[in-house]
Amino acid sequence: MKLTSRSVSLGAIISTVTTAALGAVLLVSVPASAASTLGAAAAQSGRYFGTAVAAGKLNDQTYVNILNTEFNMVTAENEMKWDATEPNRGQFTYSGGDRILNQAVGNGKRVRGHALLWHQQEPGWAQRLEGSDLRQAMMNHVTQVATHYRGKIYAWDVVNEAFADGGGGGRRDSNLQRTGNDWIEAAFRAARAADPAAKLCYNDYNTDSINAKSTGIYTMVRDFKARGVPIDCVGFQSHLSNNAPSDYQANLQRFADLGVEVQITELDISGGNQANAYGAVTRACMAVRACTGITVWGIRDTDSWRTGENPLLFTGSGAKKAAYTSVLDALNAGGPGPTTTTTTNDPGPGGCTASVSLNQWNGGFVATVKVTAGSSVLRGWRVTATLSNGTITSHWSANRSGASGTVTFTNVDYNGAVPAGGSTEFGFQGTGSGSGLAPSCTAA
Ligand code: XIL
Repeated sequence: MKLTSRSVSLGAIISTVTTAALGAVLLVSVPASAASTLGAAAAQSGRYFGTAVAAGKLNDQTYVNILNTEFNMVTAENEMKWDATEPNRGQFTYSGGDRILNQAVGNGKRVRGHALLWHQQEPGWAQRLEGSDLRQAMMNHVTQVATHYRGKIYAWDVVNEAFADGGGGGRRDSNLQRTGNDWIEAAFRAARAADPAAKLCYNDYNTDSINAKSTGIYTMVRDFKARGVPIDCVGFQSHLSNNAPSDYQANLQRFADLGVEVQITELDISGGNQANAYGAVTRACMAVRACTGITVWGIRDTDSWRTGENPLLFTGSGAKKAAYTSVLDALNAGGPGPTTTTTTNDPGPGGCTASVSLNQWNGGFVATVKVTAGSSVLRGWRVTATLSNGTITSHWSANRSGASGTVTFTNVDYNGAVPAGGSTEFGFQGTGSGSGLAPSCTAA
C-alpha cells in the first residue's frame, strides 16, 4: 500500500510539532492511501461501507465473493423485520436474520439491525391490532428482538419511516402512530434497555435535502436530545434518481450538529448521472465528521428491489460499474475522520489509549471499550483488561483471548487502522461484575 501524507506541508508539520510541544490542542491529518476495496477505503477514515444482504443469496458464489471482498457492514434486507421475526404473536423466528448475522460476523463484518418498528412488513396479526393491545405487542417485539441480538448489532433502525411525505412535516398515519405520539420514544427506550451497546437510529426516506419531512424529523431529534430520549443516529435511506440534492451535505450536517451520528443506510441511485451522483453522496458523507458510514441497498443491479432500474454498484454479472469507481475514489480521497481531534494527553506517535464505558446490572455487564490513536496512525492494536470477578460470554469488533482474569483483545481486519487522533470501539459482555477493568492499549 502506498502511503503519502496528504495536505500537510513541511511547514505545517513543524508548526504542528511546535504547537504540540506547547501543549495546545492540535488537529492531525489522516494519511491518504489508495485502498482497493470499498470497506478498506472507508476504514481509512474510520468509516464503514456496507450493503443489504438477502439470506437466500448466500449460496450464490459471485454474490458472496463480492460481499466478502468489498463490504465491512451488513444489513439484513428483510430478515430482521417484524413479519420475519414474529410471524405469530409471541413466536419468534430468527433463522434468516441469524444466518445473515453469522455470515457477516464470521467474515469480520459488523451488522446494522433493520428494523424494529415499521408500518410496512408488519405481520398480519399486528396489522389487525390497535391501541393499547398493539402498543404492548410493539414494545414486546422491540424488547425481544433487541434482546436476541444483544451485543451483536452495531446500530439498530429502531423506527423506520414514521414521518409523512408532502408538506406538513408531521407523522404518517399508521396503527403504530395511533397508539400515541410517544410510540417512537417508547421504542427507543425499550431498545436501549434491551441492548445498551447498540447505537439507536431513526431511519427514513425522502429526507435527502432540507425539506418539510426532514425538518419534521430534525425537530423530533432535537427534542429527543433535549429530553434525554436515547437516540444516537439518524439514517438517510437515500433511494435517489439522477442526482444527489444540492443541499445533501448541508442536510446531513444540520443533523450532525444536533449531536447524533448520521448514516446513509439504503443508498441506490437510478438514472443517467449515476456515477456522478454516487460520487457526490460519498463526498458529502466524507465531508461530515459525524457521517460514520454508507450502506448500499444490494450488491448487483439484479439484486436490487428497484427492478429494472440498475441502481447499484455492480452489474448483474458482478462487474464493477463506473459508479463503483466514483465511490472508491471519493472514499480514498479522504475527509475528516469521525473524530480527529487529539489533546495534550495524547500518548504520542505510535501509541494508543483505551477507555471503558460500563453498563452493569445485578449479575451481568456490557463493556464498550474505546481505542484512541495517538498522534500517528495506528496499524493495529492490542488491549488488555482484567476481570477480577466476571466472565466474558461474548464480544464484538475484536479478537479475544481469555474470558476471565487478564483478557487480551486485538483488532479485527476492519478496525486495526485508526487515523491519528481517531478512535474505534469494541465491546464485550459477561456475567458477574465488570468493575475494575482498567484497559490498557499498545500498538501492534
Ligand atoms: C425493501 C426490500 O428491499 C424488498 O425486498 C422488500 O420486498 C420490501 O422492502 N425502505 C426500507 C427497506 O427501509 O426495508 C425496504 O426494503 C426499501 C425501502
